[in-house]
Order: sequence, then C-alpha cells, then structure tokens
Amino acid sequence: MTQFISNSSATGTGLFIRTFGCQMNEYDSERMEGLLSRDGYVSVESAEDAGIVILNTCSIREKPEEKTYSELGRYRDLKKERPDLIIVVSGCVAQQKAADIIKRFPSVDAVIGTHQVGEISDIVTKIREGSGPIVAVDYLDECRIDSYPRLHRSVSSFVTITQGCDNFCSYCIVPFVRGRESSRTSSEIIRDIKELVAGGTVEITLLGQNVNSYRDPEMGLDFPELLECVSDIPGVRRLRFVTSHPKDLSDQLVSAFRRIHSLCSHIHLPLQTGSSRLLAAMNRKYTKDEYLKKIDALRSARNDLAVTTDIIVGFPGETIDDFKETLAVMERVRFDGAYSFKFSSRPQTKAASMKNTVDEEEKSRRLTILQELQKEHTLLTNRLHVDTIKEVLATGKSLRNPDVITGRSVHNKVVNFTGRNEDIGTLIPVKIIEARNNSLLGEAINNHSIRSM
Ligand code: 5AD
Ligand code: SF4
Repeated sequence: MTQFISNSSATGTGLFIRTFGCQMNEYDSERMEGLLSRDGYVSVESAEDAGIVILNTCSIREKPEEKTYSELGRYRDLKKERPDLIIVVSGCVAQQKAADIIKRFPSVDAVIGTHQVGEISDIVTKIREGSGPIVAVDYLDECRIDSYPRLHRSVSSFVTITQGCDNFCSYCIVPFVRGRESSRTSSEIIRDIKELVAGGTVEITLLGQNVNSYRDPEMGLDFPELLECVSDIPGVRRLRFVTSHPKDLSDQLVSAFRRIHSLCSHIHLPLQTGSSRLLAAMNRKYTKDEYLKKIDALRSARNDLAVTTDIIVGFPGETIDDFKETLAVMERVRFDGAYSFKFSSRPQTKAASMKNTVDEEEKSRRLTILQELQKEHTLLTNRLHVDTIKEVLATGKSLRNPDVITGRSVHNKVVNFTGRNEDIGTLIPVKIIEARNNSLLGEAINNHSIRSM
C-alpha cells in the first residue's frame, strides 16, 4: 500500500492510492503518486481524507478481483457524502472490466488501463475540468515508462525493465490485461538507476513479468548483458531481478551468477507444477527434468543460491499422482520459500474451458499438504544460516518491536536483529543466532556498517 508523506486533511489535493496485487502494481502506484505530486497532490492516510482515490486493481485470481468491487462500494458511499471526491480505477481489473465498472459504479470518474499509468496527470486534469467519465484502456505498442519523481527515497528500489507478457500460460490472465511484452531501452534503465543511486539506493531489483526475455529495443542487449551493465554502475551494491521464466533461463544467465558479484544469491523461479504432463497443459514449455537441470546448473554456479517459487494446485485434470510429483520436486529442490495458490479460473484463458476441474475442497486439501511441506523446508533452509555472518541491508525498525532492526540478507531472508538506529539504510554484518519459520534472528556484530568500513 502507498505510504503517506503528509497528514493533510480532506482537501482536493489529498491523494489516496489503494494497491492490490503484484510488485508491478506497486510500481505503477508509485509512478502515479510521483506524477501527481508534480501537480501538487499529496498522499494522505485514508480514503476519508482524500480528494482523489485511486484503486489499483489485480485480477490474477478471483479473490483480489472481488476485493475491487467491495472497495468500490465503500468509495461510492464516501462520494455520497462528498460529491467532489474523484474516484479512479486502474490496473488489471480496470483493463478488462472497464465497461462493467462504469455501469455498476456510476460514481467512478475514470477507468484507466495498464498502459495509461503515465497519463494520470492529464486524466485527473480533464476530470477536474468536467470531462465526465473517462475510459482509457488502449494498449500502446512500445514500453513507455518515463522517469517520475521518486517520493519515497529508499535504500532498495524497483526498476521496471519489461512490461506485458507474450507467454500465454494457459491459466494466466496477465497477457490479456498487460498486453504484449515490450522492453525499455537500456539507456533509460541505466539513467533511472544512476538517479536512484545518487538518491541513496544501494539495492536494485529489476522488474518484469519475464525478465529473461528482455531485449533492448535500441542496442539489442539481452538480459544477462543488461545485468552486466547495471552491475557496472558505481554504487549498485546489490542486484536482484523478478520474475524469471524457466524456459528462458539461459546458460549466460547461469554464468552471470558466477561472474557478477553484486548479483544476490537468490532466484525466484516459478515451477507451477512438478508434473510434466500438466506443465504441457499449462503451456509452460519446459518439463520437470528441464526445470531440475536449470536448478542444478544455477546451484553449481552459486552453491548457496536461495530458490523461491510459485506453485498452483488443482489445475484442471490434476490427479493425485500429478500432485505427488509436485511434492517430489519440492523434496528434491528444497525451496527456500513458495507462494502457493489454488487454481482460479480466469476469463479469456485457455484453462477456463478445460474439463476435469478439481473441486474446491480437494484443492484446499492439497494446498494445505503442500504448505505444510513448504513450512518444513523453509525452516530447514533458514537453519542453514544459523551461526554464520550475513550481510544485511537494514531497511527499518521491526513493526512488532521498535527496538529491533529489520532487513534482508543476500538470500532474501528477512533478518531481525539487535542493532542501532544508525544501521538503518546500511549494509551491515549480522551474526545469525536463530532460525524462525519466516525470518532469521541475529545481532549486528560490530559498530561499523560495511558501507563505512
Ligand atoms: N490461478 C491460480 N494461480 C495463478 N497464478 C497465475 N494465474 C493463476 C490462476 N489463474 C499464479 C502463478 C503465478 C503467480 C504470480 O500467480 O503461480 O506465477
Ligand atoms: Fe502469466 Fe505465464 Fe506470463 Fe507469468 S509467464 S505472467 S504466468 S502468462
């Protein structure tokens, strides 16, 4: 959710953005906030305090989509009290259900698609000038992500390198709501990163639906070459990327883990299922064995590589044997973490018309089994770090205990440690003393941050 930077009371210039879904949506919300700040809008803590609310929506599964409608009901009631409130719906549900939203919620002033984020200033100005409801959901051919004011200076920042997706995995709505894949030029990406580093960022995460298929439209650089260029920028101490598609994970990317020191020892590599038969039905274009080979290659390039994944249970036609194959891959890989989901039928996708659906109860049963196994594996992988010293990028105070500093290790593990407030914003050596289910506990081991050494 968007942070607030001022506690301004209900005024026309108060902006509240509610964000559902993935990091791409978080990034788009940050862009809209930055762009609107140029026009004098200031983020506020709640919709009640705002002159404009933007609901940035997610449609990856049914549940987050439903949240769009309940949230819009709330904003409609607010507008009854304050008719000058501007309501904008953006993101993936907006892209797909624009007509529906306007029909069901006449209180909505604008529905903007995933390619109109950069137009937010003009759209809001038009509404203010009395344009009436605006629907803008066209796709643009090229990747247009111009620089925008970064309001929340952070030691760790995301930079989008591709948008859209051409893979059409049979369960996935993303290609329908984010359009064709396109890449930003490396010169823009590098300019963005240099600015962030000048503002204090030390960790960069390159962002895209499938970063591995990045191709610089100007210079033709591929993803490993882009990584090389970014790692050469002075001040980029840590480099990460999400998300990788296993089918496009090249030998060059594997060897980047050997060569590029600042590349963090973590990869998020969605498996989806351990059954090669279902992988084919999902249109993933790799088999279980190919996936495992890539993991082996990555681990031989970086022996301490942490691996996280996404898994879907209950895809149409998933038998108990298919499900057991997924568990077997989990046993073999021992993922550091897994986001796991029950299959959710999405409009327009191929899987929506597949037969042999798995009933909800059975999906829940399989999900519970899988999550229990993953819990064990996460704890086992966390334990490997106990009694070692890890470099942690301290990002803030723990929400639960203000005496504790929190950050992430190169393996992307959350590390909570006793340290000093001055440690926040620095890379600091921490002795890991205990492994918890979802985090590591530690102690800063000296009085000097790595940056100041
Ligand atoms: N049902 C369940 N999970 C899905 N995902 C994408 N589409 C669906 C769907 N229809 C999951 C995939 C993907 C992650 C972002 O969301 O695991 O990697
Ligand atoms: Fe969806 Fe597949 Fe594209 Fe990922 S690669 S966004 S799962 S279609």
